[in-house]
Amino acid sequence: MRLLPRLGLAGATSLLAGCGWNGPQTSLVPVSDFARDILHVYAIITWATIVIAAVVVVVLGWVLLRFRARPDAALPPQIRGHALLEIGWTIAPALVLLVIAVPTIHIVFRTQSAPPAGALEVIVRGKQWWWEFSYPAYQITTANELHLPVGRPAVLRLEGTDVIHSFWVPQLGGKRDVIPGRHNQLSFTPDTPGTYLGQCAEFCGTSHANMLVRLIVEPADTFERWMASERAPAAQPPSGPAADGAAVFAASACVGCHTVRGVSSGVIGPDLTHFGGRTTLAAGMLPNTADNVTAWILDPPRIKPGVKMPALGLSEAQARAIAAYLLSLK
Ligand code: CUA
Repeated sequence: MRLLPRLGLAGATSLLAGCGWNGPQTSLVPVSDFARDILHVYAIITWATIVIAAVVVVVLGWVLLRFRARPDAALPPQIRGHALLEIGWTIAPALVLLVIAVPTIHIVFRTQSAPPAGALEVIVRGKQWWWEFSYPAYQITTANELHLPVGRPAVLRLEGTDVIHSFWVPQLGGKRDVIPGRHNQLSFTPDTPGTYLGQCAEFCGTSHANMLVRLIVEPADTFERWMASERAPAAQPPSGPAADGAAVFAASACVGCHTVRGVSSGVIGPDLTHFGGRTTLAAGMLPNTADNVTAWILDPPRIKPGVKMPALGLSEAQARAIAAYLLSLK
């Protein structure tokens, strides 16, 4: 008889283990107006559901007890058709739907409306399997790590380039599809500095699960410093391994796919002009360290199945030199 409580405890533990409300991709800790609006609708629905569930459970319990089978009881009076009850259970659900629909529609329209004047515009391009971010006002392009200043409205213009992707950083707002041939946009004002994780939310091929995004919300002066360094031309290492790597880079197939402003102008892979300033590699898969970059250059598909970048047949020494060069591009 001791088994039952133990099973109950084990069951409750595994059930509650799924209840982390502040995990890295939570939608329950909002940091923008858009995410707060969504959470507001979510709260209305949750509370309405809790009240309805409580009413149903109480009424059901009462019915089960009051009308339970008794050895001596005769069949209770049977009711066929009851106009008042039928009107009641038609109107009550309609009222519940109304309570949910009015704020939902209100928020749907509010989050689809035109962004305020002065919003920071970023062109977001979804690619297999990474994100490209261009800031037209600053004429810079970067990848996978989106920087935004806190408190300033941002408008992300979503452009598809190959297949359908979906941009989703849950703490900042709802997911929105990135569709070739269609211009979607996503507008919100981040209100809390921090690094927020996101994920492509539409199956887009082999490495869909490896298409991560980091959204870095920072104070205005930090953002301006970051932007100033992004706008600067690529560093030119004077000598040492980084300079050797620059020479290998310039002489290899790298230049056909990657832009390093002033050095190469490929547009198939991510812009690497300030690659060393990014914290992660391969769309958020790995920390941006010399070992990881070397391993990536030697054999990208081993790390990211299906990736467009092939192994170029470079020696380990060449790969290590290129990694030193790329990481010097702060
Ligand atoms: Cu891009 Cu899934």
